[in-house]
Amino acid sequence: MDLNDKYASLQNQVDSLKQKNKQLELTLDQYKGLSADIPDLEKEKLQNALTESEMKFRLAFDSSAVAKSLSFASGPLFRVNPKMCEILGYSSDELIGMQAISFTHPDDLERSKDNVRDLMAGKCKNDAFTIEKRYIAKDGRVVWANTTVSMLKDENRKPLYMIVEMIDITARKKAEEMMIQSEKMMSIGSLAAGMAHEINNPLAGVIQNIQVVINRLSGDIPANEAAAQKAGTDFTAVRAFMEERKIISQLESAYSAGTRAVEIVRNMLAFSRKSTSQKLSCDPSELLEKTLELAHSDYDFKKDYDFKKIKISKRYEANIPNVLCEETKIQQVILNILKNAAQALYENPETLPECPTLVFSLASEPGYVSLSITDNGPGMDEQTKKRIFEPFFTTKPPGQGTGLGLSVSYFIVVEDHMGEMTVDSFPGKGTTFTIKLPSC
Ligand SMILES: Nc1ncnc2c1ncn2[C@@H]1O[C@H](COP(=O)(O)OP(=O)(O)OP(=O)(O)O)[C@@H](O)[C@H]1O
Ligand SMILES: [Mg+2]
Repeated sequence: MDLNDKYASLQNQVDSLKQKNKQLELTLDQYKGLSADIPDLEKEKLQNALTESEMKFRLAFDSSAVAKSLSFASGPLFRVNPKMCEILGYSSDELIGMQAISFTHPDDLERSKDNVRDLMAGKCKNDAFTIEKRYIAKDGRVVWANTTVSMLKDENRKPLYMIVEMIDITARKKAEEMMIQSEKMMSIGSLAAGMAHEINNPLAGVIQNIQVVINRLSGDIPANEAAAQKAGTDFTAVRAFMEERKIISQLESAYSAGTRAVEIVRNMLAFSRKSTSQKLSCDPSELLEKTLELAHSDYDFKKDYDFKKIKISKRYEANIPNVLCEETKIQQVILNILKNAAQALYENPETLPECPTLVFSLASEPGYVSLSITDNGPGMDEQTKKRIFEPFFTTKPPGQGTGLGLSVSYFIVVEDHMGEMTVDSFPGKGTTFTIKLPSC
């Protein structure tokens, strides 16, 4: 290759470098060997061009709003920009030398490896691929990112550098998840409500008739005595027979099972009823206090666990505005959360904390008041957490939970009050339910 050819080839490389300077930094050193035979004046020009290109690259790379990293083919990172550090919570010194897979979410690892394998093998269009995947930040946060990985190759198509560009889409993913959750909830909810409408009337008939039968077989009323005599016996004998055959207690069991079914149907009907009652301005701290009093006097609470033994601590921000709500409905939501928390705290003596505690928090944010209840119970795994707002999802034994408490609460907060209801929980780390209601 003569000097002219060499110069032309070098010039081409500089041109292509200028084009790629958004993505790649090539150092002057790499050109030193190639430029050995070039006259000093030309060399200086080239060096200036390279320095300028390098500066532009650095500016584009470091100040980009997109997180970027460079690595050697599929090797460790050797350069990261500040946005990448911000998203992942590591310093650049910590990130440099790490492999991208070491902070990839385990559930996305295989998919990521397959994609990189295809990229290295030249199977990707334009030597790049884009995926939405999760990373684990230094503090354990899950970060969703739209990630584009491009491979820079030499003239023989041998992989040189891998450029990763990440855009944080965690907020969008959360919003999508909430929408999917809400749509799923609403469709199961409307099915449940439809069934409830059908079951409601015949069930009411069953319950009323059981009540009438109990009255007619055991009630101290003249009509019973008269009917017994007309049949050639007396009512005391009829009662003795009922007692002997335990008929009244069986009917009472049927009646109480029926009333439980009525309660379930009543909850299911809540999914179809968008409340028409007027929402009023209400002090959220008073609302919490009143609900706590209700919990303390509620028979169900006292029956299964001593709610008074749970320590309640309060963290209320100053000057919390009032919320616009239907008080009894929001009380029902808070009661559901309290009941679940108490059940979770006491469900297993082995996981019962030394000091079972509930923390009530109130905070304000533009347009909303957020009200949180945190317990120091056993928490939930990811799979359970994903499903808790679904109607009929329960982890409790039959007879103890119908799985309607949280789904009805979700409906009340999200559909009836245009609010938000979310959960934060980790196994062994307790659970926080947060409801956000429009402030006024
Ligand atoms: N504070 C909590 N800690 C741990 N798990 C919880 C907590 N709150 C709710 N859960 C989980 O969420 C599930 C659904 O709760 P939800 O209130 O909807 O139904 P349930 O309590 O099982 O039954 P129901 O409320 O109808 O009596 C529970 O079965 C439980 O697994
Ligand atoms: Mg419940």
